[in-house]
Amino acid sequence: MSDIPQSVVYYSRPMKPRGQTKQKQTPTSEEDDPLFSNLDLFLFTLIIGLIVYWFMSRKKAEPIPEFKKMPMTRETSFIEKMKKTGRNIVVFYGSQTGTAEEFANRLSKDAQRYGMKGMAADPEEYDMCELSRLSEIDNSLAIFCMATYGEGDPTDNAQDFYDWLQEHDGELDGVNYTVFALGNKTYEHYNAMGVYVDKRLEELGAKRVFDLGMGDDDGNLEEDFVTWREQFWPAMCEHFGVEASGEDSSIRQYELKEHNDINMNKVYTGELGRLKSFDIQKPPFDSKNPFLAPVTVNRKLNKAGDRYLMHLELDITGSKMRYDSGDHVAVYPTNDTTIVTKLGQVLGVDLDTVISLNNLDEESNKKHPFPCPTTYRTALTHYLDIMHPPRTNVLYELAQYATDIKDQENMRKMASSSPEGKALYQSFVLEDHRNILAILEDIPSLRPPIDHLCELLPRLQARYYSIASSSKVHPNSIHVCAVLVEYTTRTGRLTKGVATNWLKNKVAGDNGHKSIVPMYIRKSQFRLPFKASNPVIMIGPGTGIAPFIGFVQERGWLKEQGKEVGETVLYFGCRHKNEDYLYQEELEEAEKKGVITQLNVAFSRDQEQKVYVQHLLRANKEDLWRQIHKDNAHIYICGDARNMARDVQTAFYEIIEELGGVTRAQATDYIKKLMTKGRYSQDVWS
Ligand SMILES: Cc1cc2nc3c(=O)[nH]c(=O)nc-3n(C[C@H](O)[C@H](O)[C@H](O)COP(=O)(O)OP(=O)(O)OC[C@H]3O[C@@H](n4cnc5c(N)ncnc54)[C@H](O)[C@@H]3O)c2cc1C
Ligand SMILES: NC(=O)c1ccc[n+]([C@@H]2O[C@H](COP(=O)([O-])OP(=O)(O)OC[C@H]3O[C@@H](n4cnc5c(N)ncnc54)[C@H](OP(=O)(O)O)[C@@H]3O)[C@@H](O)[C@H]2O)c1
Ligand SMILES: Cc1cc2nc3c(=O)[nH]c(=O)nc-3n(C[C@H](O)[C@H](O)[C@H](O)COP(=O)(O)O)c2cc1C
Repeated sequence: MSDIPQSVVYYSRPMKPRGQTKQKQTPTSEEDDPLFSNLDLFLFTLIIGLIVYWFMSRKKAEPIPEFKKMPMTRETSFIEKMKKTGRNIVVFYGSQTGTAEEFANRLSKDAQRYGMKGMAADPEEYDMCELSRLSEIDNSLAIFCMATYGEGDPTDNAQDFYDWLQEHDGELDGVNYTVFALGNKTYEHYNAMGVYVDKRLEELGAKRVFDLGMGDDDGNLEEDFVTWREQFWPAMCEHFGVEASGEDSSIRQYELKEHNDINMNKVYTGELGRLKSFDIQKPPFDSKNPFLAPVTVNRKLNKAGDRYLMHLELDITGSKMRYDSGDHVAVYPTNDTTIVTKLGQVLGVDLDTVISLNNLDEESNKKHPFPCPTTYRTALTHYLDIMHPPRTNVLYELAQYATDIKDQENMRKMASSSPEGKALYQSFVLEDHRNILAILEDIPSLRPPIDHLCELLPRLQARYYSIASSSKVHPNSIHVCAVLVEYTTRTGRLTKGVATNWLKNKVAGDNGHKSIVPMYIRKSQFRLPFKASNPVIMIGPGTGIAPFIGFVQERGWLKEQGKEVGETVLYFGCRHKNEDYLYQEELEEAEKKGVITQLNVAFSRDQEQKVYVQHLLRANKEDLWRQIHKDNAHIYICGDARNMARDVQTAFYEIIEELGGVTRAQATDYIKKLMTKGRYSQDVWS
């Protein structure tokens, strides 16, 4: 069943009243008139003629494309592939934004150093039922790098594998495995997916050969991974009775091909999937085929203060994309061209050289690290993450190009798991927020070949924004509410958030000049209640207001349709009333119209003591308890995951404890049950 509230779906499709044609007929006397008049005959002939013409011309105008049946070349049996290519280690990854995939690639590459052969594998691309056959390969091992999302959910590419694990019973005798979990402690279900996979594989009879690794993205995920890996490989050597080759040399995965005489129509210019997909847009639009949405509105939201908060509207007319309140819009930003140009200058290369990076492993499903052929400029602008501090493996691989031995040593040290090395990486790279350009500027002896750098940098990821509109009111546009990221690092460098700065500079277009944003819609579970008559309590300080602008629009629309709409309570928080009270006019107008039945705003810095949304929740505890306990209210929290969401949840525990007369454990259980019933939902990020 669709997760769209049925009441909403019903109203979105107005039905044609029955018998409409009859009503439109003018009353005539059948006896007086001939059955067909000349005009009737003429019109009849004309209509038939037009229908025939339409069919003929339609056929001519839109020839049905003939697709050649391509032979199925993709191997879905990882076991056969491993056997064919002499591999004994397979590293599966459940990854949304690429980190787990990166770790899987690193582990599979590592295997070579220990005299083994590995391959990274996307569980979505292979038949995971074959896991039970892994024992057919000598000294075999399956490693799982699993990220967690949502409420302890798998990533999209691990969903089928997760379902399979749940549905099957003991089949994995003789399968060796280990798991590295990727998560973030600020989320309630910390590393839930990694923990589940680790436990479930054991239940199914597989043998855990090394302990589960727990990676925390709120702390230092890279360090967690490196530490786990440093202990993992010696343990594997012992387990399989092999010795490390000691070879620490870098192993290239891709070879460079320069194209000196290429038809530029065959060169990727930023497309993510199909070549020329930006010139000829064809639905359906998704992560591989984003829609180029014109920006129709781009305005500053805050009235004062030194920050910049913005409201954007993206036109999706003609895209056939549909969204629901609570969904996310994913946008593909491009990197700052000045940084790209500087990288070209520092490395002394012509950024407009057309190149391909071709996988040396011909068996690999991934032929290139990014769409090829392309230019270095396009790769650095559209495809590669040049702004985040590089991971230790990048430093390790690049170290060989530092002509100063001291620099080489330091770079390798940072990639090691020694306390000294970890501290150096933490300070020089993470705390100083050095991106690759800053590293090249501050280590002048380091001048790597640009193709190797392009091979090592991770892919530039789409950024998500909670949609700040309702499709009932704005079917053809998607609204975004975002705060500009900009900060100065300890080394004095002004650093700008990639997507927010790129969005800020999008000129809202008239027809002559249209700024476009490559985007697609990501469905979420953050949904208004099925019954509009249920009360909703929305808590969204700062940019956390975004989805609630959509919710309020939708409740207003439902009210206009004559639906019974329950209480609509909003808790918003900002710094100063006169500065960053986002959407003040819209919210006050909605309150005046009775769409918002209670508007609570916490101005944190307008008085000496901080006032936050949770303070207002506590002040309204009786009302809240009634709404939740008696009236089946749905609670929604959006915004900061690190502190706000947790503090708000604590406030709810306290209210339930006090007014429900229960213990903290029972209050916790109460919220858990609300979550299970979909009555306590969070859309949070950190
Ligand atoms: C599901 C979801 C929904 C979201 N919805 C919204 C939304 O509605 N509105 C919104 O504004 N954002 C939202 N975000 C966040 C958004 O996706 C981006 O992460 C954010 O806009 C920053 O992107 P950027 O490319 O500009 O910054 P990036 O280039 O990605 O830089 C961000 C990084 O810079 C660093 N950084 C940031 N500030 C500082 C600082 N002061 N000091 C040091 N380092 C710093 C941090 O490492 C941070 O990760 C959402 C995120 C998710 C996952
Ligand atoms: N990853 C990224 O790049 C990125 C980018 C942007 C935002 N974010 C996250 O998104 C969050 C929201 O950003 P924003 O700029 O929209 O919000 P904001 O304006 O900084 O904060 C909104 C309001 O929430 C208050 N607040 C602070 N701590 C709170 C807590 N523990 N509980 C309840 N309220 C609290 C703030 O008060 P005071 O400030 O006065 O304490 C302010 O009044 C940020 O905190 C950040 O975690 C992340
Ligand atoms: C929207 C969002 C939701 C998340 N939910 C969780 C969660 O419930 N539990 C958790 O441990 N980590 C959570 N995380 C953290 C990610 O799992 C972590 O950043 C991980 O490194 C991402 O790996 P990937 O890049 O391979 O997708 C979440 C991250 C985001 C952006």
